[in-house]
Amino acid sequence: MTRRIAEVLKNGQPDESVKVQGWVRTKRELKEFAFVEVNDGSSLANLQVVLNPDLPDYAKVLKQLNTGASVEVEGVLVASPAKGQRIELKASAVTVYGEADPETYPLQKKRHSFEFLREIGHLRSRTNSFGAVFRVRNACATAIHKFFQERGFMWVHAPIITASDCEGAGEMFAVTNFDLNNVPRTEKQAIDYGKDFFGRPAYLTVSGQLEAEVMAMAFTNVYTFGPTFRAENSNTSRHLAEFWMVEPEMAFCDLSGDMNLAEEFLKYIFKYVLDNCAEDMEFFNQRIDNSVLATAENIINNEFARLTYTDAIALLEKADKKFEYPVSWGLDLQSEHERYLAEELFKKPVIVTDYPAKIKAFYMRLSDDEKTVRAMDILAPKIGEIIGGSQREERLDVLQRRIESMGINANDLWWYLDLRRFGTVPHAGFGLGFERLVQFMTGMGNIRDVIPFPRAPQSVEF
Ligand code: 4AD
Ligand code: MG
Repeated sequence: MTRRIAEVLKNGQPDESVKVQGWVRTKRELKEFAFVEVNDGSSLANLQVVLNPDLPDYAKVLKQLNTGASVEVEGVLVASPAKGQRIELKASAVTVYGEADPETYPLQKKRHSFEFLREIGHLRSRTNSFGAVFRVRNACATAIHKFFQERGFMWVHAPIITASDCEGAGEMFAVTNFDLNNVPRTEKQAIDYGKDFFGRPAYLTVSGQLEAEVMAMAFTNVYTFGPTFRAENSNTSRHLAEFWMVEPEMAFCDLSGDMNLAEEFLKYIFKYVLDNCAEDMEFFNQRIDNSVLATAENIINNEFARLTYTDAIALLEKADKKFEYPVSWGLDLQSEHERYLAEELFKKPVIVTDYPAKIKAFYMRLSDDEKTVRAMDILAPKIGEIIGGSQREERLDVLQRRIESMGINANDLWWYLDLRRFGTVPHAGFGLGFERLVQFMTGMGNIRDVIPFPRAPQSVEF
């Protein structure tokens, strides 16, 4: 049976017969024999294959085994005399499935820049860096499901197509099957959405929260984990047009329960990844950002800082630092402010609570001061906002007033308001930006390099 290379490297014993499959990373030809390094994506380390001239078609096979070629190797494991590897595979049969012409294969042994690798998104996963990124991404996703399932949360699937703008920022992609050259019009020349596929305007979701709230009002503790879409024209290293979000929602829960869960959640994911991706994390620490391991230990072992928005503003006003955007109470925190708090002042994640109502979404619970809402953002060193959450407004009249004052059409949200009419409870939740988490974990500088197929303004190749 074919075995994965990670498993062979870990458990394989001398004299064992094995068969592996993968892609050639490098070839070295010596006088009496040749070495080929093979990788199948299961680990950072390659399996070294030794080819001897007594192998059938030795010369022909060797010529075909260039970087990028796909291959199946059968043979016997032997203890490796080389440094840094326990075993290697002495080949007895080699099948080359597909060659890769060394003149045109874009991935050569030298180091390529991430910018260049983005242009060959269909091949970049075959590099050490992207192999490590996507294994860690997978481990983060596994940890997320484990965390919630161990605590009795139900995974619910929020729709991708929706009619509501959860965040109210108007940054939505329209979904239509109109012929854009011939859009039906009403008598008054307005677009006749009644004739569109859904009979009304529809969009790609910016968040699964509203639907998660529906499900929490039946199952108590739920979470969504899926793609979300934002048409914000932000060409930054922290924004994608399509990103994954994890959104837990808890009935019978207030803001402090929400913060506690979020902190426990991040600690759990970091611990899981350190325990299960030690080799990849070591790689990031050596090659990408030498603070990655210390940051992970810091997250796991220290309590996050917690302070109100009002206190955060006071600290920023006192800061011995010039900000591009000056701060004052009522303004949204910019990434430079978030990073100052987390990176320089507290040197660990900071939970900022109780933001001005004016700068936050309609669903957040209004406090007695009527000026702030029970919001919480978790700010991480280097990343800035990684989690955004809140206690939700469970009082029908207050919610109606807020929806009205923000100019949102309450009719569109009739079902959301119904939840406050029938068996309403205090409830809370948050959203974790999954790619920002993977960035934080790996130290990767650009969010486009932690998702297999990044979507950003003017960029949707692959
Ligand atoms: O703060 P946001 O907008 O919150 C919500 O969407 C709420 N409905 C969540 C909830 O309470 N259920 O987004 C949540 C997180 C942000 O903290 C950030 O990490 C990430 O989503 N995020 C993005 N990640 C990548 N690209 C973008 N354009 C992002 N916008 C937000
Ligand atoms: Mg936010």
